[in-house]
Amino acid sequence: MKIIEKINYLQFIVKKFKKKNKIISFIPTMGSLHEGHLSLIKEAKKGKNTIIIVSIFVNPTQFNNLKDLEKYPRNLKKDIFLLKNILCENDIIFTPSEEEMYPTIDNRNFYFGDLENVMEGKHRKGHFNGVAKIVSKLFDFVKPDKAFFGKKDFQQIAIIENLVKNYNYKVEIIPCETVREKNGLAMSSRNILLSNEERKNANNIYKILKESREKNISISDLKHWVKNKINENSHFILEYFEIRDDIFLKDVNSWKDDCKKIGFIAVKIGNVRLIDNIFY
Ligand code: PAJ
Repeated sequence: MKIIEKINYLQFIVKKFKKKNKIISFIPTMGSLHEGHLSLIKEAKKGKNTIIIVSIFVNPTQFNNLKDLEKYPRNLKKDIFLLKNILCENDIIFTPSEEEMYPTIDNRNFYFGDLENVMEGKHRKGHFNGVAKIVSKLFDFVKPDKAFFGKKDFQQIAIIENLVKNYNYKVEIIPCETVREKNGLAMSSRNILLSNEERKNANNIYKILKESREKNISISDLKHWVKNKINENSHFILEYFEIRDDIFLKDVNSWKDDCKKIGFIAVKIGNVRLIDNIFY
């Protein structure tokens, strides 16, 4: 396993592997790795003739809140330790510096239509533009055949799929299942910022989502039910709970609509903002 910090060297190595007809499987992350991240790598490892590239870079342009960026957990030593146990000899960890990824200001503006104006796009202005900036740069340098993303960030996958289509990237996007703690909480790098009590409370988010699946009521009643349940907990501040389709992420108003339906939620507990989703 190689740890690479420089783009030039990364490109040199990637070219070498491409010449050998290796499949490049890419897992972009912001580090502070947990089982959710590792599950993406495990999925990538199922491929044959594959070189795995994991990037670790806390991308400043996708944070709409400076405090959130400052307190974002960073554990590079621990991350490398975890990756050593799972990666093979030829695999690569790419850990560029901020100067390496943004040598000059990146003023690009990406357009994702309605996708960028709802949920995470609406509540975190500029977030997806920042995600698109970094992921497009990473795709340019890594030139992956496959890239693995977690369904916990379902809207992010929709944005990336759009990016790939609009900019004609030759990469297959592989969505992977959300990995949860035993008690249901979706794993997230931000979970370690929760106090013990907050963490216990956070388990209720998925409990409520799961319970909502058993209800036999209209979509509008279900939205009220979830909102009330969340608001019953004094630790929670609900940002949104919405039910949307899985392709265009358009509002769905009837169970009879011919599409897969997903409930999307964002909740603040203290200073920590958590997101999750559930298929109905
Ligand atoms: P990060 O939050 O580190 O997540 C990296 C990848 O891990 C994403 O695809 C995310 O959806 C996935 N992931 C996180 N928690 C997961 C869980 N519990 N189960 C399954 N997958 C999970 O997402 C980002 O970083 C950034 O936006 C990035 C794409 C790296 C661009 O900076």
